[in-house]
Amino acid sequence: MATSTSQSSVVSEQILNELATQFMEMVPIRKMKWRSLSFGSEQVGPDVQKKVLSLTIQSPICQRFPPSLSYRKFFMKQLLHKLEDCDAEVCDEVYESYAELLQLREEEDDTLCYKTYTLPSGQTISLQESVLLISQGTTGLSTWEAAEHLAEWSCENSHLFKNRRVLELGCGLGLTGITLCRECSVQSYTFTDCHSQVLYLLSKNIECNFQKHRNVSSTNEQKNTCNSVNSEKDINIMRRIRRQISLTAETLSPDQEMEVSDISLTALTPTDSLRESIEEELSKELADLHLSCKKWEKEETGILGRLKTDDRIAVARLNWESKDSLLLEKWKSDIILAADVVYDKSVLPGLISILKKLLSMDLGNGEKPTAYIASTIRNEDTRDQFFIMMNKEDLSYELIDPPTKGFFHYEKIIPLEILKVVMGNPK
Ligand SMILES: C[S@@+](CC[C@H](N)C(=O)[O-])C[C@H]1O[C@@H](n2cnc3c(N)ncnc32)[C@H](O)[C@@H]1O
Repeated sequence: MATSTSQSSVVSEQILNELATQFMEMVPIRKMKWRSLSFGSEQVGPDVQKKVLSLTIQSPICQRFPPSLSYRKFFMKQLLHKLEDCDAEVCDEVYESYAELLQLREEEDDTLCYKTYTLPSGQTISLQESVLLISQGTTGLSTWEAAEHLAEWSCENSHLFKNRRVLELGCGLGLTGITLCRECSVQSYTFTDCHSQVLYLLSKNIECNFQKHRNVSSTNEQKNTCNSVNSEKDINIMRRIRRQISLTAETLSPDQEMEVSDISLTALTPTDSLRESIEEELSKELADLHLSCKKWEKEETGILGRLKTDDRIAVARLNWESKDSLLLEKWKSDIILAADVVYDKSVLPGLISILKKLLSMDLGNGEKPTAYIASTIRNEDTRDQFFIMMNKEDLSYELIDPPTKGFFHYEKIIPLEILKVVMGNPK
């Protein structure tokens, strides 16, 4: 009897942890698995309810890296519904926590939030992301499913990355790369993107996740100290990024926000003069790769910075259309990664051109680099076009097996795939 009780409490602990990881990742509430609360009411007594709170809303991670306020409110509202649905007696702490949240006012520019991703080792990665999928005419201010898929696959195939130099194209906010740097013993990892605000937030995310003492359990830690937003200039930049995203939000219909079948950037051309002026100021401010000199060592080119606390890690501004082959030669890498970069036909010529340059490089031992590209197949035409263009340029590709053990919680209704790409005929 004693064994069965302890077994059932272990199971429920796992289920509660599962609920908490979904909350931290900001899985849409209606898609969350609420299994823990669909049992009988005796299973969701006050202890379980308090445990849910302590693992979610009241957890140290949530205090320090909070999901958006509207998400937290919605989560609590749904929790109350679930408890009522199974006739559980709702404990005071649940009502109090919800009431406290309701009192918090959403700021007009509350457009950045934290998503915390849990790795199989139990380690977490907290990223500051836009609450919108597309903002500032870029898709790079949020993490896409393909980045999670590629990170999962990389962890399962970590032997491929051991002591390897990896370069990521269109890295966005850094989930794939940060996961690899944590789990795959890479020799070096160069995160690249072309968008100033993406690069800025990426650098903050990297700083935050590679701080020497990232102790989230410290309760007297001041909220958001890990923002790495420590100078007056940083505070201003961050405020303007938030403001600019909020202005984008005002021009999007709710449908645009939710449904992204083929991401088109042209639909989001700024029309509003305020938005244009903020954008102009920001792009002036972030024209150079804007990296905190306390935390990053900048190369003389000004477009690559290396993290001082972990010199395997570099961030670089790299536009696929760049003609500077000499620069690429300097950043020669064994493995090229990219997630969700085949999202629109207009980006394909640049992407093919950079892949060709990078994959043609001689690694010195007769070997050539290999690329792994993860995509969400939103549009068959775009995918076919990519294949046709690769064939034309003598890039060979093969579909590789997907990860078998997923640990992130992303939408898999739209199929995802990973391609291995090499120059010429594969050996
Ligand atoms: C859909 S997002 C994917 C971001 C990230 N890899 C992920 O999956 O979460 C596409 C990324 O490609 C970048 N990108 C688009 N065109 C680019 C170009 N010409 N040069 C470099 N990066 C580009 C964007 O800035 C954006 O970060």
